[in-house]
Amino acid sequence: MTNRRDFLKLSGSVSILPALGSTSLMLGNSGTALAENSPATQGAPSSIKGVLRGKRAGLGAPKHPNAFEPLPYSNVDELSLAKGFSWYAIASCGDSINAKGDKFGDCCDFTAAFSGSTTDRTLLWVNHEYVIPNLVHGRPVDASEKTKEMVDAEMKLVGGSLLELQLSKSGKWEVDRNSKKAFRIDANTDIPMVGPAGGRTVKGTMGNCGGGFTPWRTALSGEENIVEYYDKELSDETYGWGKYYDRSVMDYGWVVEIDVDSGLARKLTALGRFAHEGATLTKAKDGRAVVYMGDDSAGQCLYKFVSTGKISGNKELDKDLLLEGQLYVANLKDGKWLSLDPENKKLSADKDKRFLTLKDILNNTREAAKTAGGSPLNRAEDVKVHPVSGMVYFTLTNNQAAGDVHGHVVMLEELNSDAGSLSFAHSSYLTGGPQVGFSCPDNLTFGPKNSLWICTDISGKAMGKGAHAAFARNSVFRVEEDQSTGTPLIRHFLQAPWDAEITGPSFSLDKKTFFLSIQHPGESSFQGDVKFTSNWPEGAKTSTPKSTLIGVFESGKQFS
Ligand code: FEO
Ligand code: CA
Ligand code: CA
Ligand code: CA
Repeated sequence: MTNRRDFLKLSGSVSILPALGSTSLMLGNSGTALAENSPATQGAPSSIKGVLRGKRAGLGAPKHPNAFEPLPYSNVDELSLAKGFSWYAIASCGDSINAKGDKFGDCCDFTAAFSGSTTDRTLLWVNHEYVIPNLVHGRPVDASEKTKEMVDAEMKLVGGSLLELQLSKSGKWEVDRNSKKAFRIDANTDIPMVGPAGGRTVKGTMGNCGGGFTPWRTALSGEENIVEYYDKELSDETYGWGKYYDRSVMDYGWVVEIDVDSGLARKLTALGRFAHEGATLTKAKDGRAVVYMGDDSAGQCLYKFVSTGKISGNKELDKDLLLEGQLYVANLKDGKWLSLDPENKKLSADKDKRFLTLKDILNNTREAAKTAGGSPLNRAEDVKVHPVSGMVYFTLTNNQAAGDVHGHVVMLEELNSDAGSLSFAHSSYLTGGPQVGFSCPDNLTFGPKNSLWICTDISGKAMGKGAHAAFARNSVFRVEEDQSTGTPLIRHFLQAPWDAEITGPSFSLDKKTFFLSIQHPGESSFQGDVKFTSNWPEGAKTSTPKSTLIGVFESGKQFS
């Protein structure tokens, strides 16, 4: 979802030139991989000098296993896949997910798989980013005309779902609709705030965009665009929930931690308050937990949190690690992580005395970050850590106003390849554009064999027009790397239906299923003469478009 308001008032494969190198390791990237694959320490540390020049990412072999013919670009209202791959729907908005009859929410986003009670069962966390009122109510709807019943219906469709999936004989994951483990959190769940700015319980969560997961079986869910929900000004850019519910914007904009076994959620105030895209956890060389986070708004920053305690591998000992630690903001010009705490002289010297306590800083992280010298960026979205090299990749979706229309994938190498370091080097790894094949990168994930997968988020307003004329729909790409030359190779893998973006890329623990959230197909329905701007996934001319979690597979093969 593109930012609608300023948060803090609130056919082909293409080669690109070289990249980075392999150094040390990090943690896995799907579900309980962290718990089940303990961190390795392979590879040699590198120095920070000249680290990025001519190095490689280690994304794949010259004759890549599972090479596929790039998907030709087309402009039909379908979900299209490279030859040899198939998809199926797992859950659509409104589907029942458990014995209680809870419903799958709208605008599915981040996904993470955790092991289930047997190998043919998995627990899958899914974020629900926002609701599309016109589609929920089946007609054009203004905030000012919403009844309390309409608002209550919308409030049930945000937050997140924990699904219990079972593997069918045909190798497809299906929702166990009688599950007693599956649950929902939504806009009315009581959620305690914990950590330095905590101490109260607030109502609900929304704007749940990207996320992450921990080795102690919790999902991390980023509250991203949150201001338009309870705003009292009933413009067409607000949801109008504030007419019936009086809630503070300060209760939102946090990372929510959800225990997938108990269903309990809490907000982690130590990780700061801003438009959290995601929260990717890795491990410093000394064992401390490190969480990388983007703030997806033009001119906002990149952050990391480093825990005080160290990961032991024992859930009982580790479960509160994200309650206490140090938050940092990135200064890309100097290659430094700057501490955000009252000891920082730039913060303590603030003439308006806005940052005298840690609580002040965490509640107003964006202002503190700028005052400390954090670099304003072109919409920092997803951050992912290469499972072997430890290199950190993050996306900058775009910044139209600054002339960056197609965005970048940026690589960042921490000093000594240690996520706990306070110095780093960075460089653009891939730059978007028609010649490259992609535009507006958003979510990233590393595949089971370390290919980099990129999902794009060209906004509906820009799609197919002007600088984006070459792009009719959003897509998923796989990046591999020619081992003899280090040249990244980008393959077009999937195209979304009309008016949709693809979010939440992750892999099943058996590596045979690629989970993806097809978010907001037909998002601009009822805004003009056309009733539905997409009929996906059902496809009939009268079908209401529905955000849908899908599984993609290639006849029993593992993904790369
Ligand atoms: Fe919700 Fe930053 O995408
Ligand atoms: Ca986005
Ligand atoms: Ca989105
Ligand atoms: Ca996103």
